[in-house]
Amino acid sequence: MKHALDRREFLRLAAFGGMAYASGLGAAGYGPGAAAASGAQAEDFYFVQLSDTHWGFEGAPNPDSRGTLPKAIAAVNALSPPPDFIVFTGDLTHLTLDGKVRRERMQQFHDIVARLNVRNVRFLAGEHDASVDHGQAFHEMFGASYYTFNHKGVHFIALDNVSDPSGALGDGQLDWLADDLAKLRRDQPIVILTHRPLFDLYPAWGWATRDGARAIAMLMPFQNVTVFYGHIHQLNEHMTGHIAHHAAKSLIFPLPPPGEDDHQPLPWDASQPYRGLGWREVEAEPQQAAYDVQERPVLGS
Ligand SMILES: [Fe+2]
Repeated sequence: MKHALDRREFLRLAAFGGMAYASGLGAAGYGPGAAAASGAQAEDFYFVQLSDTHWGFEGAPNPDSRGTLPKAIAAVNALSPPPDFIVFTGDLTHLTLDGKVRRERMQQFHDIVARLNVRNVRFLAGEHDASVDHGQAFHEMFGASYYTFNHKGVHFIALDNVSDPSGALGDGQLDWLADDLAKLRRDQPIVILTHRPLFDLYPAWGWATRDGARAIAMLMPFQNVTVFYGHIHQLNEHMTGHIAHHAAKSLIFPLPPPGEDDHQPLPWDASQPYRGLGWREVEAEPQQAAYDVQERPVLGS
């Protein structure tokens, strides 16, 4: 391993298709990432997921609302060696109906995350960022809201299930996804990044993607698919067939488990500051299409 994570602490979350590379990917791969994954060149690496920072939120559930994100960034900057890349899975900013305020919050968020030592940073929108203006302000600041990239043999697909205020991917994005998947071998390691759960976790609270089942159906033929998402402000593990879905903690306030009476932020506990908040490291082992996830707390200073 290239970095000093304590593997005994790892919760192994997915280890499917361990022989996926027995025959190699070779010339039929889709690009440099596939070639890198085809044999001994495939390297383990890790990335960091942060989610639901809700910049601009002020209130009792987090009396350190302006300090929590900077604390997390300082902790990420202290990682040695640094992660290969960092992804924010949406709700970068807190909801506002005022487009000027929305852009100010996005600019402030942008300036704060510019303190990250790692330059390879990916952004997804959440419904707080994008549902009011169909993603316009997000696009201006961060670019496309759905896209792909390859990294050391893993094909990453960022999906946008928030710019449509009904919580759908939409036909256009699903067509784009189908075109992308059509280029991939069935044993290609795929990681989906998104904000809302693609499955029906708790639709009454918007913890679902209206047409997420169509995306999952497209992904089912692929042997090695793992989803990392945000939105629900707590850990959650779920399987749809062989596809593992991992929800991340928030960096502003935790929410109650699905189905509780009250869909409100959990109160701040002064005796345990930042309880329920956190971020995660994800160690990818491309040759095994396995992902070891280590949750990190927010620590007070
Ligand atoms: Fe959120």
